[in-house]
Amino acid sequence: MPHRQRLTVFPLPQQAPCQYEKPNKKGFPESLRSRKVGNNCQAAADFSAHRRRFRPHCPRPLCMIRGAVPPSRKRFGKAHMSQQFVSRPLVIAPSILAADFAKLGEEVRAVDAAGADWIHLDVMDGHFVPNISYGPDVIKAMRPHTKKIFDAHLMISPCDPYLEAFAKAGCDHITVHAEAGPHLHRSLQAIRALGKKAGVSLNPGTPASAIEYVIDLIDLVLVMSVNPGFGGQAFIKSALGKVSDIRAMTAGRPIDIEVDGGVGPDVAGQLAAAGANALVAGSAVFKGGTVDSYKANISAIRHAAALARGEAV
Ligand code: DX5
Ligand code: ZN
Repeated sequence: MPHRQRLTVFPLPQQAPCQYEKPNKKGFPESLRSRKVGNNCQAAADFSAHRRRFRPHCPRPLCMIRGAVPPSRKRFGKAHMSQQFVSRPLVIAPSILAADFAKLGEEVRAVDAAGADWIHLDVMDGHFVPNISYGPDVIKAMRPHTKKIFDAHLMISPCDPYLEAFAKAGCDHITVHAEAGPHLHRSLQAIRALGKKAGVSLNPGTPASAIEYVIDLIDLVLVMSVNPGFGGQAFIKSALGKVSDIRAMTAGRPIDIEVDGGVGPDVAGQLAAAGANALVAGSAVFKGGTVDSYKANISAIRHAAALARGEAV
């Protein structure tokens, strides 16, 4: 099991107890007495920040981390106990952006043989993001090299005119950015109408609530842990809190929570503990340049995530 820190949480003296709390003689809610929370500090801090946002009057910071449904999420309905902790399968998705573009077919076969579950395809237009990668024709050329899921991440705007082309190229998942255009609902409808799984990607600055009114149309949420456009960037830690929030929002639904950007064995455990089940990794998978190194790299990420999920590896 990963190292777990113990966090003792003290109330802020200037805050009054909320109406739901019975004050003790020091004026603090009874529930705060010697409250201790087990889990990692980052997750605790993120969740605490969330509570402060929605209940600024209430000093009770954490009654839970794992499996919690924050007050603002109650309108989504609390999942049945048996569903709250059901995990989606763990998925490692190498991003082809970090592959050798001179031998794409070979690279796809190599990560397939090395244990990739999905193949993550980053499509960039030089408009929505400041970089250009590849389009449907290149994806079509890669398609015969594996039977694994093609997980397309469209960083393009507009996206609607191109959805059919990506579906025809062999993409199984088509993920569009919530920020890519004004008609996210329409884009998701179109992806589903093409018979593909529909995903929504959220930039680091985009709140989890962006998926609230399209949640019935979503098969996957892609949380960006870097600003999209380039591989090899540093992981942005606030993604952990967003993953926890999305985990609570999607509890009981068959929705994959995927994280993309700066992911490696060092953060895979924290991401899995927060509720992510699909981890995209470019640089961390393709370093080494051989099938054996890809295999070791994928195994290291899988091992760290599986440990945090309490699964055998
Ligand atoms: C960034 C892309 C990522 C990227 C990940 O815009 O969406 O998929 O390739 O690369 P690493 O793992 O190197 O951060
Ligand atoms: Zn991506």
